[in-house]
Amino acid sequence: MIAPSILSADFAHLADEAAAVSGGGGADWLHVDVMDNHFVPNLTLGLPVVKSLRAATDLPLDCHLMIDDPDRWAVGFAEAGAYNVTVHAEAVADPVSMALDLRAAGAKAGLSLKPGTDLDDWVEVLRDYDTLLIMTVEPGFGGQSFMPEMMDKVRRARTMVQTGHLTVVVQVDGGINADTIAIAAEAGADCFVAGSAVYDAQDPLAAVRALRRTVER
Ligand code: DX5
Ligand code: ZN
Repeated sequence: MIAPSILSADFAHLADEAAAVSGGGGADWLHVDVMDNHFVPNLTLGLPVVKSLRAATDLPLDCHLMIDDPDRWAVGFAEAGAYNVTVHAEAVADPVSMALDLRAAGAKAGLSLKPGTDLDDWVEVLRDYDTLLIMTVEPGFGGQSFMPEMMDKVRRARTMVQTGHLTVVVQVDGGINADTIAIAAEAGADCFVAGSAVYDAQDPLAAVRALRRTVER
């Protein structure tokens, strides 16, 4: 799956930017980066924008919450119609209840690991999750360089899925472009977030299709 990140889109025209990646071979999910200026230094958008986006596109919304205290806020995004809601392992207080609450509210539950966070510490908890987001940059900003050293984490996650220990989608986020997506695909990722590689392109839909062709190859 390819999930264009609207972090790199024009925030004054989000409905158009969602439409710009929709269509055959286009986006599978629309990745929505929620940043609170506490968990990460950057500040983006929140629940009202997600509610408006939900009404403006048919694409499944993949909300990546880079916020403190997701235990308090995450379910609201599920109730607003997000398809998948991902919280950060480093921020969540009760990850097992979090997953149950997100699913009860009708969303898929995602858990994200910053580059310095060890997968091994979260394997048990991940049995309750649908999505594992492995950050391939430090969260907070688009346009950073891909960290190939995260591929060990991706490979180990893929092995756990293949052996039936986990049933998560293995998602990567940060620095994914025409070159690095092949590295992440080879390591075993199956969902690719791409912000600048899609929205800085002349033709965002063509960029998504090109990324998909590379993954398939
Ligand atoms: C970064 C965000 C990413 C961001 C990726 O903290 O989580 O989703 O949009 O941007 P690129 O693809 O430009 O690295
Ligand atoms: Zn993200």
